[in-house]
Amino acid sequence: MVELTLPRNSKVKEGKQWPMPKNTQNIRQLKVYRWSPEKGGNPSLDSYYIDVQDCGPMVLDALMKIKNDIDTTLTFRRSCREGVCGSCAMNIDGVNKLACTTAIEDIKGSINIYPLPHQKVIKDLVPDLKNFFDQHKSIQPWLQTNTKEPDEEWLQSKEDRESLDGLYECIMCACCSTSCPSYWWNSDKYLGPAALLQAYRWVIDSRDEERQERLNKLEDPFKLYRCHTIMNCAKACPKGLNPAKAIASIKKMLVERAIAN
Ligand code: SF4
Ligand code: SF4
Ligand code: FES
Repeated sequence: MVELTLPRNSKVKEGKQWPMPKNTQNIRQLKVYRWSPEKGGNPSLDSYYIDVQDCGPMVLDALMKIKNDIDTTLTFRRSCREGVCGSCAMNIDGVNKLACTTAIEDIKGSINIYPLPHQKVIKDLVPDLKNFFDQHKSIQPWLQTNTKEPDEEWLQSKEDRESLDGLYECIMCACCSTSCPSYWWNSDKYLGPAALLQAYRWVIDSRDEERQERLNKLEDPFKLYRCHTIMNCAKACPKGLNPAKAIASIKKMLVERAIAN
């Protein structure tokens, strides 16, 4: 029988129990993943207790409350707190979400918070997204043209502009890619749903003049064809986007191009 061994230090242990606030009935428990490169060792789940009457309504508010009032060493990313910057993506009660748009009251029982799955952890809730952003860079997410630049701007019809709806809104939070099983196992070669959604956004931009070259670069058994339409990506996207549909559209364009040639 095959013996599976978990990597050393991968087991999450019970961590520190922080004290409960006194004189309140409105307590919520948050169990938060902790790991620091300075300490090393196994990660732990620390238990914090907050008075929800004395805290903003979102999970990010609870994390800020912990950081400000209980444990200043807790580390996480955030910036806009409006679901715009994508930096507070984390795994909340088993689902990849933005902490700033997830209401505490929508989660029953204690709130379990982990970093985005299957990424190296830099510290606590901060995943290492270097590979993710390198992949985004690799699809060259900018307008590419060969003809002479117009005096003012590259124009686009209303319809052509509308074809980018459902694509341009991506905030690169990585909720989709880090919920995709194909990406978990092949993230060194498979571009993943976020980068492919952006690749499609530029492939179909009516102003771009490198469509064929962009498609050539995507026509690769690993970069594109590791998507098996499992649809986790569309379920995970906090902006309601559908990377699986965009990936299917790229595949369709490649088939149509092959038939036409
Ligand atoms: S549809 Fe494709 S990209 Fe989306 S989760 Fe499934 S395999 Fe990953
Ligand atoms: S497609 Fe959605 S889940 Fe994926 S990176 Fe963009 S906004 Fe985040
Ligand atoms: S803090 Fe910017 S998306 Fe949550």
